[in-house]
Amino acid sequence: MDFDVQKLILQALGARTKAYAPYSGYHVGAALLSGQGRAYPGCNVENASYGATICAERVAFLRAVQEGERDFKAIAIVGGMANQRPEDYAFPCGLCRQVMSEFCKEDFVIIAAKTLEDYKVCTLGELLPHGFGSAQLK
Ligand code: THU
Repeated sequence: MDFDVQKLILQALGARTKAYAPYSGYHVGAALLSGQGRAYPGCNVENASYGATICAERVAFLRAVQEGERDFKAIAIVGGMANQRPEDYAFPCGLCRQVMSEFCKEDFVIIAAKTLEDYKVCTLGELLPHGFGSAQLK
C-alpha cells in the first residue's frame, strides 16, 4: 500500500473519541484518505429517532464530498463499546458500503482495525460484489 496504514488508523482512533452514541454505547471512528493524501475523519452520530443515526464512515464521506473530494484511496474504521478497546473488527454496514460504491471503485481499500497493529485489510469489491450503481441507471 502506498500510504501509512497506521497513521490512518490513528486518525480513526482520534475520530472515535468524538462519537455521539448515547443509545447504543458503540463508538465508531473512521478516517477516509483522499487520492491527494488528505484524511477526513468521521464519528457516528446517533439520534433519539434511531433511524436518523449516521455512521462514522458516511460522516467522513459527506465531509470529504462537501470539500470537493471525489477521489478516494482508503478508509480506516475502529469500533467498539465506549471506554473499551475494540473487541472486534468493525467492518462497514451495508448502507456505508453502498455509499462507498457511489464514489469508489472495487480497489478501494477498507481497513477494519482493533489497534495500530491488529487490523484486517480488504477491498470494496470484496465487501460489496455485484453492487447496484450508476451503471444500472443508464
Ligand atoms: N455504526 C457505524 O458508525 N458504522 C457502521 O458501519 C456500523 C454501525 C454505528 C451506528 C450506531 O451509532 C452504532 O454504530 C450501533 O449500530
